[in-house]
Amino acid sequence: MYDSIDKNNPFDEPSSALDMDLLTKLIRQQTQSRPLFENIAILGCGYVGSAVADYWQDRGHDVTGTTTSRERVAALSGMVSKVVLMKGDDLPAVQSLLAGQSTLLVSVAPTGFQAATDATYADTYITTTQNLVDALAQAPNVKQIIYLSSCSVYGDRQGAWVDETTRIDPLEHNSQVLHQSEQIILQAANHDQKVCVLRLGGIYGPERELVGMFGGMAGMTMPGKGDRFINWIHRDDIIGAIEFARLNELEGIYNLVDDSQLTVKEQVKRVCSAYGLPPVQWDTSKLSLQRKSLQVSNQKIKAAGYDLIHPQLLV
Ligand SMILES: NC(=O)c1ccc[n+]([C@@H]2O[C@H](COP(=O)([O-])OP(=O)(O)OC[C@H]3O[C@@H](n4cnc5c(N)ncnc54)[C@H](OP(=O)(O)O)[C@@H]3O)[C@@H](O)[C@H]2O)c1
Repeated sequence: MYDSIDKNNPFDEPSSALDMDLLTKLIRQQTQSRPLFENIAILGCGYVGSAVADYWQDRGHDVTGTTTSRERVAALSGMVSKVVLMKGDDLPAVQSLLAGQSTLLVSVAPTGFQAATDATYADTYITTTQNLVDALAQAPNVKQIIYLSSCSVYGDRQGAWVDETTRIDPLEHNSQVLHQSEQIILQAANHDQKVCVLRLGGIYGPERELVGMFGGMAGMTMPGKGDRFINWIHRDDIIGAIEFARLNELEGIYNLVDDSQLTVKEQVKRVCSAYGLPPVQWDTSKLSLQRKSLQVSNQKIKAAGYDLIHPQLLV
């Protein structure tokens, strides 16, 4: 932990201009075991992947990033050393991506039309992780794999707490796929190749602000009590925790959510109040459209030494 430094920690005051150099310095004080500069592959340079790519490339690492979209290649080229146009179902491309890399970040999610069907959802996660396991067996150079998963693997817990030891038995197709993919990628773990799975809460941050998600409800009457819990994580903390996992060679599964543990009613209220929007009313005589509710513990990653940059929700 870097408790002793926290008094001077500018992140105690939420700021949109995050000093990532200071974050790296704080994290590096805990371990010097990783080389200063590495060859890193990021499979899936989307919202999170491209932000991490930018962070690592800025700090001298040699980053190779992937996209499935020809039109995104030019933009990513200005950010990373090398861009590869590929999908995870292409085993030779996956093998080629891993050549010469020491760290792999997997940040894949179906985008656009891909998200439409169960089959493409499964293909994106399961076929990709199966190919990664095959390719990693032939790529001993890759020492650390960081795989981004989701707290949605826990399914609906009717507001109860869950942690990494909670039995997982998701009912929904997409949650099953995500859980199965975790199980597959964890098969790649061995003494020389560490696999860390980060189960993320709902992602928010620059250009994915909460007002964009909740603002449309302003002034409306919503069915239900608004009493379900939604767990969030700011993108700064995803970058921070990924870097923490890399530097500390984390293994196994870690939840990554903030400390806020607020109901949707409270979250919407904060957003409306911060933006001067008319408040939302709740019609308790009706059933909520969304039922999924759970409280996700972040104690494990904190106990490992990670201090959240944004422990409370930024609105
Ligand atoms: N969004 C959330 O709230 C949330 C919550 C919990 C966990 N997560 C997880 O967090 C991670 C990052 O999410 P994000 O919001 O940054 O995702 P995103 O912006 O949708 O980016 C996903 C990336 O994966 C690429 N991709 C899509 N299908 C692929 C395939 N079959 N093979 C290889 N690459 C493929 C996309 O390619 P293009 O560049 O062509 O689009 C894109 O670069 C994902 O693993 C996601 O499952 C997300």
